[in-house]
Amino acid sequence: MTKFDINTKYSLPSGYEIPVLGYGVYQTPADQAEEVTSYALKLGYRHVDSAVAYRNEEPSAAALKKSGIPRNELFFTSKVPPKQISYEGAKDAIKGTFERTGLEYIDLYLLHAPYGGKEGRLGAWRALVEAQQEGKIRSIGVSNYGVHHLQELEDYIKSVEAKEGKGKGGVISVGQYELHPWLTRPLLVEWCKARGIILEAYAPITRGTRFEDPALQKLAKKFNKSPAQILLRWSLQKGFVPLPKSVTHKRIEENADIFDFELSRDDLDSLTTNEYSPCCWDPTTSQD
Ligand SMILES: NC(=O)c1ccc[n+]([C@@H]2O[C@H](COP(=O)([O-])OP(=O)(O)OC[C@H]3O[C@@H](n4cnc5c(N)ncnc54)[C@H](OP(=O)(O)O)[C@@H]3O)[C@@H](O)[C@H]2O)c1
Repeated sequence: MTKFDINTKYSLPSGYEIPVLGYGVYQTPADQAEEVTSYALKLGYRHVDSAVAYRNEEPSAAALKKSGIPRNELFFTSKVPPKQISYEGAKDAIKGTFERTGLEYIDLYLLHAPYGGKEGRLGAWRALVEAQQEGKIRSIGVSNYGVHHLQELEDYIKSVEAKEGKGKGGVISVGQYELHPWLTRPLLVEWCKARGIILEAYAPITRGTRFEDPALQKLAKKFNKSPAQILLRWSLQKGFVPLPKSVTHKRIEENADIFDFELSRDDLDSLTTNEYSPCCWDPTTSQD
């Protein structure tokens, strides 16, 4: 039986912990972000997923700082923008995040996408490792990396370790991907799980595009839960950290009310498909 509550955390390869439910703020307008993030924190969310590209790091972090919740109970993520995947680009992104947020440290910093070519990707990773070694960032990881990008990074990390010692090349703590029953990415998931890398699920409710699916509707009726709640529970029970986004109070509440029921193995299987149907962009397939 998989027991979770909103305070459940997973251990990351970095040694830090990550709350099992995140609150996404992609497309949350900057002038709304502080209010809705504050509301989410009041409900018990402790983990906010932002990015430089979302243009709302400042108001999201303001909500964390004004919440009165001890900093070590909060978890804030940002990301190096897709167009800045290089050593200098990543250094600039990290500097900007600190200037905008005023946070003393960032819990998780990700490379947003595997762009910039091999040199850019490895340079950007090196910038994350340096910021981590300086104590500015606690955990680092990647988003939208295909297995070939992950393998390239792992080979690089091993080559640094061979020369400089264990941990010197950095440790991949998180992989953030679009994941839901219509995009289960078995090879990527297996690659990450084999290494203890925590998988975060973005677009975990498919941006609402699959709510009419018959298998989903059946489970929603069975458990008297909404389609969004069933999809979030599927994500949790697959071992992912779902990052639902909403600017609507009722939905922010609904998306956190997923800890009082449990899908059976058959329920999970009835929802899972072999489709490969992203509802967002899909840089994992990039060959650059
Ligand atoms: N790394 C990446 O490349 C990447 C890409 C995409 C997303 N992400 C992250 O993942 C987070 C979530 O992904 P996402 O925002 O694309 O998609 P999502 O969370 O699957 O869906 C968000 C959409 O669903 C609506 N919604 C939320 N809760 C609902 C509910 N209970 N019932 C009905 N509709 C509901 C929201 O509307 P309202 O807001 O109007 O309520 C919004 O339009 C993002 O915010 C971001 O943090 C990362």
